[in-house]
Amino acid sequence: MKKNRLVKGFLIAFTAFGINAVTAQDTATIKVSEEADAPVISKHIYGHFAEHLGRCIYGGFFVGEDSPIPNTHGVRNDIIDALKQLGIPNLRWPGGCFADTYHWKDGIGPKEDRPTIVNQWWGGVTEDNSFGTHDFLNLCEILGTEPYLAANVGSGTVKEFNEWVQYVNHKGTSPMSELREENGRLEPWNVKFWGVGNEMWGCGGNMTPEYYANIYKQYATFMTDWTNSDKLFRIASGANVADYHWTEVLMRDIPKNLIEGVALHSYSFVEWENKGSSLEFNEEQYFSTMETALKMEELVTKHSEIMDKYDPNNRIALIVDEWGGWYEVMDGTNPGFLYQQNTMRDAMIAGTTLNIFNNHSKRVKMANLAQTVNVLQAVILTEDEKMLLTPTYHVMEMYKVHQEATMLPVTLQSPEFTYGDASLPAISVSASKDTAGAVHVSLVNIDSKKSNKVSIDLGELGLKKFTGRILTSKKLQDHNTFDKPNAIVPVSYDKFKFRKGTLELEIPPFSVVVLEGK
Ligand code: AHR
Repeated sequence: MKKNRLVKGFLIAFTAFGINAVTAQDTATIKVSEEADAPVISKHIYGHFAEHLGRCIYGGFFVGEDSPIPNTHGVRNDIIDALKQLGIPNLRWPGGCFADTYHWKDGIGPKEDRPTIVNQWWGGVTEDNSFGTHDFLNLCEILGTEPYLAANVGSGTVKEFNEWVQYVNHKGTSPMSELREENGRLEPWNVKFWGVGNEMWGCGGNMTPEYYANIYKQYATFMTDWTNSDKLFRIASGANVADYHWTEVLMRDIPKNLIEGVALHSYSFVEWENKGSSLEFNEEQYFSTMETALKMEELVTKHSEIMDKYDPNNRIALIVDEWGGWYEVMDGTNPGFLYQQNTMRDAMIAGTTLNIFNNHSKRVKMANLAQTVNVLQAVILTEDEKMLLTPTYHVMEMYKVHQEATMLPVTLQSPEFTYGDASLPAISVSASKDTAGAVHVSLVNIDSKKSNKVSIDLGELGLKKFTGRILTSKKLQDHNTFDKPNAIVPVSYDKFKFRKGTLELEIPPFSVVVLEGK
């Protein structure tokens, strides 16, 4: 859980390869170019996270096979359809803090025989383990998404961890593959992504990085054979926000043959101790939230610099496996369930954060928005049989064009978005070229009041025409409700001019625009 607070006065604009001072100009000037060794934007940057927390799994994804709500093996069909539409590339499960209390054997075998446990982090509710390993991995198959299992280090054992790997991945004869077969699954699922604990500096065991690095080596060693011939992708529990010492110690102390990824968690909020409402917020609270969201640029840059020292060839990935906005829970809901609404403010967080990840795709190879359904910055909210797609969902859907496309480096000089004597860059941008040759530019104007002119030089790219989509609304606090689920949806956008390789447009306040050039 994140507690850092930015000092007002943070004032930078970024480029893919450096930091530019923000100028007091009226028009944002952007140059998009092509570079021979530019990285591919991993589709896994567009990943999601589903914890046994509040109504994410139970009552969100999972309603049970006997529910009147249409479902496939107990998972809501409307959620399956919506996530497929999003091109969801991976799903992290079962936590979060819950992961380090989770004993996977509690969640296999006949449901009526499964033990109950108390969900000690999230509301103290009884967990009946009716959604377990088979339910999750089968769901991933239906979604066509890669599972990312976050395994228990804090209160588990090396043996238990090793057995989970064997249970889901071993093809030959072994105690765990036989148990899997007894439970009805012959073929292994071949899970590649594994989290070795979660937030080990906090809910995962309050460890120092030095102590965790040792524990990590022990777990990583026994997850597979000495050569990692099963090609597991092992992710070390990473830093809390700006804890650069954490990343330094892990990169220094863990041998490179035992690690494929280092995580980072950072949430956006007004103030950690006084988060404010997800729906009713003032100008100051909006500005503060965007300050924490844009801080991601500095976090990713600095953690990457540390990783560069120890891993100059970018073999180890930076995995931002928890990010998003965090506010007070909705009135009348369980404080331990983290249920919040989702407004255009959240669309601003999503659009700017994904631009940051795209621009850093050389090192950032995966990210997971917290959390998919009914928790924190959810892409989907449900109420009994009703469901809605949030503005954040629509941003993720608009941005999916960047998945597996080659990053195009951008330079940006942005007008300022000011509040009092503090300011932030108003415009955020990233760009990519897909395998069919189409170029996509995603733009965000976070200014709450002012539309901003943007001039984009794409001269080198030989494009002929553009189309566009926009996500915008009248008020920053606007959101979709169960009665009006389509109040905010992307619409087509053509208010731009393209002449001699330069695009000119004006982006309305708090709007996201994605342009496609061919
Ligand atoms: O996403 C909610 C919680 O935030 C996760 O369980 C934990 O990892 C983080 O503190």
